Amino acid sequence: MNKKYSELLQNHSLHYLEMAFRTDKCALLESPDGYGKRKGTCGDTVEMFILVRNERIQSVTFISNGCLNTHACANTVVLLTEGKSVNDAWSITTEQVKNYLETLPEEDMHCAELAAGALYLALVNYREHKYFPWKKLYRRK
Ligand code: FES
Repeated sequence: MNKKYSELLQNHSLHYLEMAFRTDKCALLESPDGYGKRKGTCGDTVEMFILVRNERIQSVTFISNGCLNTHACANTVVLLTEGKSVNDAWSITTEQVKNYLETLPEEDMHCAELAAGALYLALVNYREHKYFPWKKLYRRK
């Protein structure tokens, strides 16, 4: 095992490692009910896709070109969001993401902000589609 990998295993919680290496939620959805893309000050991006049924978030996926912390944060946002009502999803915070991961470094909280920010934008987009359904005909940019 190389040194960098063994340090990663030693320095992080099981929750962090699970979220950092989970890949089943990394997917681009062609026709989501809500879509959000956020670019961080570091230049990395997270795109979130939500599927909603009866005002409940059924599924969330994301794609990101960000760091391992961002991947862990985006997967945590997915975990905290799926199954919640759209209204309750607004209350998901970066603090909750940090608490779940246990070992997200304080100086990397911007990675949690990036992931949560993409979710908030997807929720806004969902509302737009709900009140202006014709907007859904336009593809994401
Ligand atoms: Fe750019 Fe984590 S998202 S450093």
